[in-house]
Amino acid sequence: MTSKQTLLRGRVLSFTAEPQGPEDTSAYEFIEDGALLVADGKILAKGSYGGLAELAAGAEVIDHRPNILMAGFIDTHLHFPQVQVIASWGSQLLEWLNNYTFPEETRFADAGHSTKMAGHFFDLLTSHGTTTAVAYCSVHKTSAEAYFDEAARRNMRMIGGKVLMDRNAPAGLLDTPVSGYDDTKALIEKYHGKGRGMYAVTPRFAITSTPEQMEMAGALVLEHPDCYVQTHLSENHDEIAFTAELYPQARDYLDVYQSYGLLTEKMLLGHSIHLKPREIDALAETQAKPVFCPTSNLFLGSGLFDDAGLRGRGITNAIATDIGAGTSYSMLQTLNEGYKVLQLQNQKLHPLRAFHWITRGNAVALGLEDKIGTLEAGTEADIVVLDSRATPAMDLRMQRAETLSEELFILQTLGDDRSIAQTYAAGQPMKPAA
Ligand code: GUN
Ligand code: ZN
Repeated sequence: MTSKQTLLRGRVLSFTAEPQGPEDTSAYEFIEDGALLVADGKILAKGSYGGLAELAAGAEVIDHRPNILMAGFIDTHLHFPQVQVIASWGSQLLEWLNNYTFPEETRFADAGHSTKMAGHFFDLLTSHGTTTAVAYCSVHKTSAEAYFDEAARRNMRMIGGKVLMDRNAPAGLLDTPVSGYDDTKALIEKYHGKGRGMYAVTPRFAITSTPEQMEMAGALVLEHPDCYVQTHLSENHDEIAFTAELYPQARDYLDVYQSYGLLTEKMLLGHSIHLKPREIDALAETQAKPVFCPTSNLFLGSGLFDDAGLRGRGITNAIATDIGAGTSYSMLQTLNEGYKVLQLQNQKLHPLRAFHWITRGNAVALGLEDKIGTLEAGTEADIVVLDSRATPAMDLRMQRAETLSEELFILQTLGDDRSIAQTYAAGQPMKPAA
C-alpha cells in the first residue's frame, strides 16, 4: 500500500553548512520554484516543482508561493511552566525567580493544570514556527508527563526534563536526591527514545541542588549517556557569588557541574555569560554547548553573551528564547534581539548565519542534524512557511528588497508569529489553513 504523498510548493531554502560570511552561497540551497515531497512524516525529496510534480503525479499539491519553505525552528532552552510568568516586571535573576517564577511553578504539581498549560505551550511553539524545543519542566513528575504526552499527541520531536531541585526554593518545589533520581529514571524509561521524545537530565542550577543531588545527577548522566543534560551557568553576578558560597571547593561555577561528571558534549548550558578563562577552556575541551538567550539576557539585565569569543575557541553555541525570562516565543524575534546584543560588542549576525543558527545550527548543537534542521531527503518533515510580507511595514520594506539575504534580514528583524504562514510537524499542518 502506498501512503499519502503531499507536495509542498514554495521557495525552498535549506542549509548544508554554517555560512562563513554574508555572501557564502555555498552553505545553502535555494530553489525559487521548489517543492518538498512529504509522506509518513518524512521528506522524501527536495527539488524543483516541475521535476517533483512529474515524479509524484498523484500527490496532493499545497501551493505556498511566494512564501519560503525552511526547516522548522529549534529552540534549545525554555521553561514550559513559565507560560504565565513571561512579562513579569522589575527584577533581576534571583529576585525574579523568588518573586514570580517559583510561586508559579508550584502550580504544576496539579496534573490538570500541567495538561492545560502544555496545550497552550505547544500551540504557542507551533504558531511561532518552532517544531523542536528543549524545555525545563517543573520539579513535579506530572509536569514532565504532561509535556511529553502532549508532544507525542502532536508527533513533535521534543526534548525535556523535570528539574532537579532540593534546596533554596519553596517547599512545594523541592524534591530529594533520591526522589529526583527515581522520578528521572521513570521518565527516561517512559519517554526517552519513545516516538520522537528525548530526555534531558535537568539539575536546575547549582543554587537549587545540594552536593548530594549533584552526585545523583552525575549517576543519571553516567547511566544514560544518550540523554541530554541541561542547566544554567553564569547568568548573573549575584548568582555566581551565591554559587561560590555554596560550593566553596569548586574552582569556578562550571567546575560545580564538571566535578560531578555532568560536563559532556551532550550538555546545554543556558546563558554562559560571565565566564572565566578556565571555564572557556573546559567548554572548548568537552564540546559542551553554551546557549545564547538574548531576549532573556536583556530582560533580566544579565549581560552580553560573547558569541564571537566562544566561537573563536571552537565552541558550538546554541540559541534560544528562554521563556519566561525571555520575552518572545519567536525565534525570529530572538534573532532580532541577538543581532543587537552582538552589535553592542561590535560582533555581527548576518542573516544567512542567523537562519542557519535557528535551524541546522541548533540541530548540530543537539547532534540531530541527520533528523531535523534541514530539508534534506530522509529527514523528518518539520517545516516552517515564512511570509516576508506579513505586516504592512514588512510589505513596504520588501518592495525595496533585491536579494535573498535582504529578505531574510527583514524577516529576522521585523518577523514574528504573523510571518509564520504554516508550521508542519512530521508533515502535519499545525495551524488552521488560512
Ligand atoms: N536559573 C535558574 N532557573 C532559572 C530560570 O527559570 N530562568 C532563568 N533565566 N535562569 C534560571
Ligand atoms: Zn532558563
